Amino acid sequence: MSDTGDDDFMARRDAARDRLDRLFGSKGGNADDRRTWFEEVYDTAEGDPAAVPWADLKPKETLLDWLSRNPGGGRRALDIACGLGDNAQALADAGYSTTAFDLAQGAVDWAKARFANSPVEFSQADLFSPPADWQGAFDLVHECYTVQALHGELREKSYAAISGFVKPGGTLLVISRSRGEGEEASGPPWPLMPSEFARFEKEGLRLVGENSYEVERTGRIIPHVIAEYRRD
Ligand SMILES: C[S@@+](CC[C@H](N)C(=O)[O-])C[C@H]1O[C@@H](n2cnc3c(N)ncnc32)[C@H](O)[C@@H]1O
Repeated sequence: MSDTGDDDFMARRDAARDRLDRLFGSKGGNADDRRTWFEEVYDTAEGDPAAVPWADLKPKETLLDWLSRNPGGGRRALDIACGLGDNAQALADAGYSTTAFDLAQGAVDWAKARFANSPVEFSQADLFSPPADWQGAFDLVHECYTVQALHGELREKSYAAISGFVKPGGTLLVISRSRGEGEEASGPPWPLMPSEFARFEKEGLRLVGENSYEVERTGRIIPHVIAEYRRD
């Protein structure tokens, strides 16, 4: 498997970013434009993870840290927009009975191939028209980097869509890039502002923990937040 830190990998990633930025739907647009763009990212990557700009090929450190303190014990987890599947696999490894979905069939097929013997149930689904029996069904909902990839009307709808999966007593964990209130962002991604994190509280969830931290990526320091919410 390629190492995301090596020079050749980063050169291929830069080339892919240039190509993907030129595709229609890369900077926003309506639901169909964005869907087409996300599908093209996976379908034109030709199996090279360097061509998927957000693929780390490992779970997020902050998720692993949280899971070490909150093992699943067989409870149900949902990974929103799973991409290549590393975070979903980490949820399963921590003892959660895990469902993971992505809009792009190419992402789902790739995740299934990478984690061929995984107990994770990977499936294609749209955050905005999910299976009815997912509503209020999960003990843990994990959202990483999806809202920040959405803009306009889709972003507006995303807070309610994500929160709706959390069962009473359940938890929502959000990992996202962050920015100050009113700070400009020329996304994607469009990091979340404090008022946007607060949108999850407006969906009937209670903030129980929040931590700001920084991630260094190709020489840049990128502010992040991990936030934990509970449905009482
Ligand atoms: C920035 S990537 C993040 C992927 C993964 N969560 C991670 O942390 O690496 C955003 C993902 O959202 C997916 N996506 C975009 N719109 C979606 C939708 N409406 N429903 C489900 N997945 C969606 C894309 O296909 C893409 O895999």
